[in-house]
Amino acid sequence: MEKEKKILYSGMQATNTLTLGNYLGALKNWVHLSEEYDCYYGVMDLHSLTVRQDPAAFRKNAKSLYALYVAAGLSPEENILYFQSHVSAHAELAWILNCFTYMGELNRMTQFKDKAAKHTDNVNAGLYTYPVLMAADILLYQADLVPVGADQKQHLEICRDIAARFNGIYGDVFTIPEPYIAKTGAKIQSLSDPEKKMSKSDENPNGAVLLLDDRDTVLRKFKRAVTDSESEVRFDPETKPGVSNLINIYSCVTGRSKEDIEKEFEGKGYGDFKAAVGEVVADELAPLQKRYNELMTEKTYLEERIRENDQKASYAANKTLRKVRKKVGLTEV
Ligand code: TRP
Repeated sequence: MEKEKKILYSGMQATNTLTLGNYLGALKNWVHLSEEYDCYYGVMDLHSLTVRQDPAAFRKNAKSLYALYVAAGLSPEENILYFQSHVSAHAELAWILNCFTYMGELNRMTQFKDKAAKHTDNVNAGLYTYPVLMAADILLYQADLVPVGADQKQHLEICRDIAARFNGIYGDVFTIPEPYIAKTGAKIQSLSDPEKKMSKSDENPNGAVLLLDDRDTVLRKFKRAVTDSESEVRFDPETKPGVSNLINIYSCVTGRSKEDIEKEFEGKGYGDFKAAVGEVVADELAPLQKRYNELMTEKTYLEERIRENDQKASYAANKTLRKVRKKVGLTEV
């Protein structure tokens, strides 16, 4: 008998302009993971509402994110690629789980504290219960594994706590998800300030390579990448954060080891190295961008895939939701 595959769940907020960091840190790995697991990847548009959005731009970005998932190599036939807001079970389970989550727990969430400090004019309740919606996302699909970055670890912890609490009261309803720690992968830092994470909100536009940057822009950004006053291509994040970040990027894209890369550039200057990194990144992004541009013109193709996948997701999610409703004693007729 064929062994059943484990279920893996992840998603990104629908508002991000994706950077090379998002790609190498998440999306590229998702493609590999989809070979081994049954994967659900959501466009997390309900989470995006915790920050005020311009409706037209929001709608466009969410669609664009879906197309990027597909363009990056995630097959909408082999994986479930869908919109969180199209499956109403997310919001329903989130409400129920809100009633099983303590304010004391939510008060400890460092991301809430950071975001509340940053958006003082809109510290809304959605921002506060963000981790509960995230728990609902994961638990609805009985996910075994959740690949997340360091910034989401605490949210996965609270998800596990909520699930265990619920199971403790009602029996085994939810699978307790494990964090998936990527074997390879990557924390990609800013090219202009390598002490900081690469982010599209970087003040310096040269700090972040965007997934849809054209070739010249990619090459230019790498050419301007901050290095150090030596000239040796050596991996040492403590004393050479800029060069080490570039080695990391080169390694993620080519799959080659850091030692191998150091050897290749022995005796060569930073100029050559930066140009080489720019080239491999531009080559990596070219087919993705080509596919993305095609998809954006194949409107019906995308819409059909979205509809199909929304339905599959909805089917799986409602199975769990029905069980939960029954367990807590909501009336059935
Ligand atoms: N909060 C996640 C982020 O910003 C996105 C997300 C929402 C998510 N729900 C999720 C990630 C469930 C993994 C699983 O990166």
